[in-house]
Amino acid sequence: MRYIGGKSLLTGRINEVIQENIGRPSTVIDIFSGSAVVGDYLKKQGYRVISNDFLYFSYAIAKGTIGLNRRPSFLRLGIRNPVRYLNELTLERAQIDLKDCFIYSNYSPNERCDRMYFQNKNAVKIDIIRQTIERWYQEGKIDDKGYYYLLSALLNAVPYVSNIAGIYAAYLKYWDDRTFNDIVLTEPDIYSNGRRNQCYNKDYTELLRIKSDLMYADPPYNSREYLPNYHILETIARYDNPAIHGVTGMRDYEEQKSEFCKKSAVYGAFERLVRDCRSKYILISYNNEGLLSTEELSQICTRYCKDNSFRLYEYAYRRYKNKIPNETEGLKEQLYFLRRR
Ligand SMILES: C[S@@+](CC[C@H](N)C(=O)[O-])C[C@H]1O[C@@H](n2cnc3c(N)ncnc32)[C@H](O)[C@@H]1O
Repeated sequence: MRYIGGKSLLTGRINEVIQENIGRPSTVIDIFSGSAVVGDYLKKQGYRVISNDFLYFSYAIAKGTIGLNRRPSFLRLGIRNPVRYLNELTLERAQIDLKDCFIYSNYSPNERCDRMYFQNKNAVKIDIIRQTIERWYQEGKIDDKGYYYLLSALLNAVPYVSNIAGIYAAYLKYWDDRTFNDIVLTEPDIYSNGRRNQCYNKDYTELLRIKSDLMYADPPYNSREYLPNYHILETIARYDNPAIHGVTGMRDYEEQKSEFCKKSAVYGAFERLVRDCRSKYILISYNNEGLLSTEELSQICTRYCKDNSFRLYEYAYRRYKNKIPNETEGLKEQLYFLRRR
């Protein structure tokens, strides 16, 4: 999934820094997991991964991939291939009423809605699939593993038919070509590292006390909050019929406002992150144009590091535009590494 601040292009560098300084950590906490791309990569290196994000859709994706070491069996459901079954479902077969379809009613054009996030057929399909997954779970036909496996398949499929320029803070005023395709779920790629990986949906402060070899922290770096940019994925994941407002149909998100997005709070947040962390090593992703300056973050790392272990790695930022990498003058991705005192 394309994700603001996503580190899909940096996973190799992250692992290089880990190996250079620690060798092979046993357990890594990915405390701001976002799209789960880093946790997934680290899991494939054989490290035990503890993943966390305060957005529920991010948690659901991690739980349905990183949290599993094999594809759920779906024996109790009695459907051999639930992903294919969901792809072929219709309103009639699922016995769902159009008036109970929240995504269709609020995010695709109809007599009571102007929003153009989805073509009607895909909005309805998202509702049918989401409600069917929920019903199977409530009826005990699938367990937690099956539930999040299917939810993660759905959440990863939605962006491919969304009428947006990458984020849900606005929809396009014309139909993008991709929206005419039918939404198609694909089986999540499940890899076994033979370890007991775990996923959490908490504020980062609640996980700092966990003792592990390494905490990897990739917090927001500017004032753009994450929920408004992904509000529809959050609503599909929660499917909680929220009160919504404004042109984009935004849900409230008081509890998912981040201290890392506030200039007045960001220093304190970083200091808490480094000071209260109980992991032996810390690796922080940031960039040189973040709300906190390089000097300030280096100062915090120096204050709490053991034996001058703090190191700063910088890489020219690579923007992928139309798949052609292009180095953007001045902007640098950074990795701050330290051993905790
Ligand atoms: C830069 S993104 C992480 C990107 C991720 N590494 C990836 O490659 O996709 C920052 C993440 O931090 C999460 N976040 C922000 N504040 C948080 C908090 N207080 N507790 C937990 N998660 C938080 C956001 O929801 C967002 O997903």
